[in-house]
Amino acid sequence: MNKLPVLAQSVPVKASTLDPNTLAKFVDPLPIPPIAKPDRYQPSPADPAVKIPYYHQAMQPFEMKVHRDLKPTRMWGFGSQFPGPTFDVRSGQEILVEWANELPDKHFLPIDHNLGGAGADQPEVRTVVHLHGGKAPPESDGYPEDWIVPGKSALYHYPNQQDPAMLWYHDHAMGINRLNIFAGLMGVYIVRDDAEDALQLPNGKYEIPLVISDRFFTPQGQLFYPVSDKTNAPWVPEVFGDAILVNGKIFPYLDVAPRKYRLRVLNGSNARFYRLSFANGVSFSQIGTDQGLLSAPVSLKALMIAPGERVDVVVDFSGHRGEEIILNNDAFVVMQFRVSSDKVNDASALAAALRPVPKIPESQAVKTRLLSLDQYVNRVAEPVLMLLNGTYWHQPITETPVLNTTEIWTLINPTDDSHPIHLHLVRFQILDRRRFETSSYMSKRELKFTGEPVPPDPSEAGWKDTVRAEPGMATRIIVHFEGYAGRYVWHCHILEHEDNEMMRPYQVVAHA
Ligand code: C2O
Ligand code: CU
Ligand code: CU
Repeated sequence: MNKLPVLAQSVPVKASTLDPNTLAKFVDPLPIPPIAKPDRYQPSPADPAVKIPYYHQAMQPFEMKVHRDLKPTRMWGFGSQFPGPTFDVRSGQEILVEWANELPDKHFLPIDHNLGGAGADQPEVRTVVHLHGGKAPPESDGYPEDWIVPGKSALYHYPNQQDPAMLWYHDHAMGINRLNIFAGLMGVYIVRDDAEDALQLPNGKYEIPLVISDRFFTPQGQLFYPVSDKTNAPWVPEVFGDAILVNGKIFPYLDVAPRKYRLRVLNGSNARFYRLSFANGVSFSQIGTDQGLLSAPVSLKALMIAPGERVDVVVDFSGHRGEEIILNNDAFVVMQFRVSSDKVNDASALAAALRPVPKIPESQAVKTRLLSLDQYVNRVAEPVLMLLNGTYWHQPITETPVLNTTEIWTLINPTDDSHPIHLHLVRFQILDRRRFETSSYMSKRELKFTGEPVPPDPSEAGWKDTVRAEPGMATRIIVHFEGYAGRYVWHCHILEHEDNEMMRPYQVVAHA
């Protein structure tokens, strides 16, 4: 293992790609994905006497215009759109989804057959759907090896026994997940309850999902997934596309009324982190994290969001009648809000107290696990592999928390990258982050702290399912394992890392 230079924000791009800055800005309205509708009601696997909503959701090839001036782009997605339809469910209302792989047999993005699970002996096109943030039984969680081939489908059961939150569903197929998601296989899944409704947050057309993702396009407007210059090993360690899409459009605009809006932001990018802010310095209130509402709103001028994370915000446009407000990622334009000068009656509220988030006491933890995040490089310091705790995916399971117990996981990151670490099944809280000496850790696996523990930002001091394990820091999370015993996974949500071994199974065991 070796200390790495900071990874450049670019990867070798061999073909010439489209420069998105040559495209006209704000010519396409922001699309809002349609709400998924159940096809019928059928008996619940938990209680056959109860009939529950059943959805049939196909994964299909389609073409979509990502910008007015580009030809339609070939994509793969749920239904015929990217992002797919939004599931909008009530907490505790179980549903069934039949995920049907209706894709072609050949992939249109470059598979690296050297990666675990993606060998040339495997079918090229394989998909398995994971509900990110969902508390689902193991057989419905989308285990990476539970993939299905074109022509097959899988019936998943989502009990939705969890607090309201913005979840998302996406492909999770072993070794090609980064390609399938890049192709468009993702969508939003929202859980609600009465307590949240009672808060009277902006809803209906005033509640807008913003699914942010970056891509490269060819000059012909087709998706371009970069490859390394080693033709026999096309994997690249990170993809940072130069075109930023919101709900599938480049530089869209949204007409808004001068009132409060709830924006539910998802970073669905393969690797890019965003720092979002409004160009005119408009502040906004963060009301929720990955797994639901914060205890109280946090006023922000900018928000950080890593791949896999969600941020729930309320923005008040009432003081901005007639203005055009640009949403930026640092200095780069993402989209535009056009505030009308209409007279409006805003009956929505932003309460000072949202939902209690009781702190899990550290004393409740029965076990602390030290887990390292490792990056391996070749002779010329190019990353070639990432592992969790020095262990490959196929090695025996090492993390075996007991159902209904609490653990602390210390994510030790000696690399120069921030890794967004995600655990399936559970929600957790961030305890702190603490700087340590990376050199002695890497040579002797000795953890020597060089700073004081830093508590999480107020904006991440709620329920999480994905945490930024910052470089040179040991990040501690506290997790109560509840819901189901069985086999799940934890991984880095930089999809290129995940596909090259930065993912491990873990097993929730029923008894110690
Ligand atoms: Cu967003 Cu394992 O997933
Ligand atoms: Cu997940
Ligand atoms: Cu990573």
